[in-house]
Amino acid sequence: MPKPRFPTTRMRRNRYDEWTRRLVAESQLTANDLIWPVFVHNGHEPKIDIPSLPGVSRLSISQLVTEVGRAKSFGIPLVAVFPVIDPVLKTDEAEEAYNADNLICRAVAAIKETHQGIGVMCDVALDPFTSHGHDGLLRDGYIVNDDTLEVLCKQAIVQARSGCDVIAPSDMMDGRVGAIRAALDAEGFENIRIMSYAAKYASGLYSPFRDAVGSASNLNGASKNTYQMDPANSDEALREAALDIEEGADMLMVKPGLFYLDILQRIKKKFAMPTFAYQVSGEYAMLKLASQQGLVDGEQVLREALLSFKRAGANGILTYAALDAAEKLAG
Ligand code: PBG
Repeated sequence: MPKPRFPTTRMRRNRYDEWTRRLVAESQLTANDLIWPVFVHNGHEPKIDIPSLPGVSRLSISQLVTEVGRAKSFGIPLVAVFPVIDPVLKTDEAEEAYNADNLICRAVAAIKETHQGIGVMCDVALDPFTSHGHDGLLRDGYIVNDDTLEVLCKQAIVQARSGCDVIAPSDMMDGRVGAIRAALDAEGFENIRIMSYAAKYASGLYSPFRDAVGSASNLNGASKNTYQMDPANSDEALREAALDIEEGADMLMVKPGLFYLDILQRIKKKFAMPTFAYQVSGEYAMLKLASQQGLVDGEQVLREALLSFKRAGANGILTYAALDAAEKLAG
């Protein structure tokens, strides 16, 4: 790099006009970067507000189909659907997770029946379906790994049969990507993609999500520290990502987003895989509430947050603001 010589070198020249700023921008945000997480409920009420997630609603299946049509019209490539399961269907062993006619499968089938050209992603994890709110099976106070894998595979298969395009294991069990890949392939679903939550941290930022899907009360204050990652760790995230790639992941995700930009950057640099950031419910709620209070300009800060993911190397971002952001980007 040339030695800067003032006043010959003036960094501010390229910032002088709006058009030069656009010309030299190193990161771009487009609708292609956005993945929209949405909540679906079993009732007929089109929208039910989620108090801890301002501006986000649980949608009925038919409203979901309508809104996915909007997402598609703005050019959003992929939606991630999360089910709000009736508490009476939650059990210790999460049998509802692999009921082929469960809410998530019906929702995916309804989307697929109406819309082509937009992908549908489903989480693989048991937390919406367990009476204890954990992502795996609970035995003697511990989330057991290998028995959980069998249930996760069954869950992935019913989701694939319903038309899901991308399976996103978010449970953090060891070996789940390999087990799910093998189960999908054995059923002829070799083109179904896996986006693994490769580095998923045991974060306090998931609380609004747990309210939204109703798992907070089941969890009743219990932590997921024996399977989700310790926020203190960084090298460990690289080992998690390496294992998931070896086991057949097509795309990786880092979660949460903003507090973990260093992890995102390390993983992207090291593996050069399609890598995504999840701006999780707590991050979204903090921005939204600060903006509603008039403390920050919500639109500016959201754009800044989304650009930070792109700058750090993300290929895309899961954000509850995807629809709003894509609408603005569409002009
Ligand atoms: C389920 C799951 C969670 C999120 C996505 N999938 C919650 C959790 O792990 O407890 C959180 C998403 C968010 O906070 O927006 N395993």
